[in-house]
Amino acid sequence: MFSTPADMFSSPSECEEIRVYFDKGANILSIIAIHSTKLGPAIGGCRYLNYSSFQEALNDAEKLAKSMSYKAALANVDFGGGKSVIIKQPSNQDPKQTFKKFGMFVDSLKGRYVTAIDSGTTTSHMKIISKSTPFVAGIKGINPSYFTALGVFRAMCAAVKHKFGATSLRGIRIAIQGAGNVGYFLSHLLYQDKASIYIADTDASKSLKIAQDFSAHIISPKEVISLPCEIFSPCALGGEINKTSVSLLKANIIAGAANNQLENEEIAEILAEKEILYCPDYLINSGGLIYVANLYKGENIKNVKNKVYQLHDAVSDILKISQIKKQTPLRISNNLAEKKLRK
Ligand code: NAI
Repeated sequence: MFSTPADMFSSPSECEEIRVYFDKGANILSIIAIHSTKLGPAIGGCRYLNYSSFQEALNDAEKLAKSMSYKAALANVDFGGGKSVIIKQPSNQDPKQTFKKFGMFVDSLKGRYVTAIDSGTTTSHMKIISKSTPFVAGIKGINPSYFTALGVFRAMCAAVKHKFGATSLRGIRIAIQGAGNVGYFLSHLLYQDKASIYIADTDASKSLKIAQDFSAHIISPKEVISLPCEIFSPCALGGEINKTSVSLLKANIIAGAANNQLENEEIAEILAEKEILYCPDYLINSGGLIYVANLYKGENIKNVKNKVYQLHDAVSDILKISQIKKQTPLRISNNLAEKKLRK
């Protein structure tokens, strides 16, 4: 285990600390990026994915660690932001050994970083990690994606109230990109509220399940971004709203779970010019974090659910301030998070 020499990085990092763990014998290469511990230990998921290079994995960890800091700051969970990645090897990698050793890597930071589930990791992986370290959240309880979906749902309610004065999502057309964990739970909540759901996934079996369970209309992944509707909800990958795709949007509101939805902050300005209300991703997708972080601290489930419910008011406030100050909701959220992180 070693700290990475500074010359491995092409540009100065915004992170407080970056650690790399390399174990040739076990074929493990892993990175922990701690963006900020100002508000508490850095919390953030562990990704177990294929990366084309070390640099790509490092960029991913750094960028996501920063958004975790912002997310945790606005979610008031008394945690900072971090992220880890384990580079998935095409062969000769024993997952049990990998996660056991990753647990030791996490433990070496003595609680400055708390890990959790992310893309490519499961509760079983977290259980293996927990044999080597206590600094792991989300081993018990239900799938955090439910709470992420609940937070996005509450944000949608706040957004339609702000934009249209509507008190429910009844009859509101919502196009969801991604029928995975969040997409499924979100569709369920929208169905209960009698919204009109349009679902797209590159895996047709997943959109079919949502169509069957929640009377959703299936649309193609290519068309979902340009569907005329009230809300477009990105719940698949990041970076989907960019200079090219922004011109295709016909929705009035964007509210989804995907991290880093906008290619850059300039896109938020373009959306505002088009009078499309963008609910910042890290503000509204924090339900899973609120759940995992509070359960880790020993909070009871009823209080946790209430905290996720309160995302409605947090979003409402940001949208109101944005209107008064004539700045995008993203700028207002960034300012608020940065102020908390500076204190
Ligand atoms: P998931 O992996 O379960 O679902 C993503 C779905 O998107 C998959 O079904 C996949 O087939 C589909 N997909 C991929 N590319 C697509 C495309 N071009 N068009 C349509 N569908 C496409 O992921 P999950 O857990 O539902 O998360 C969704 C997003 O929300 C991810 O970006 C994740 O990072 C983010 N997020 C998730 C949280 C959680 O609690 N699960 C918390 C915060 C953020």
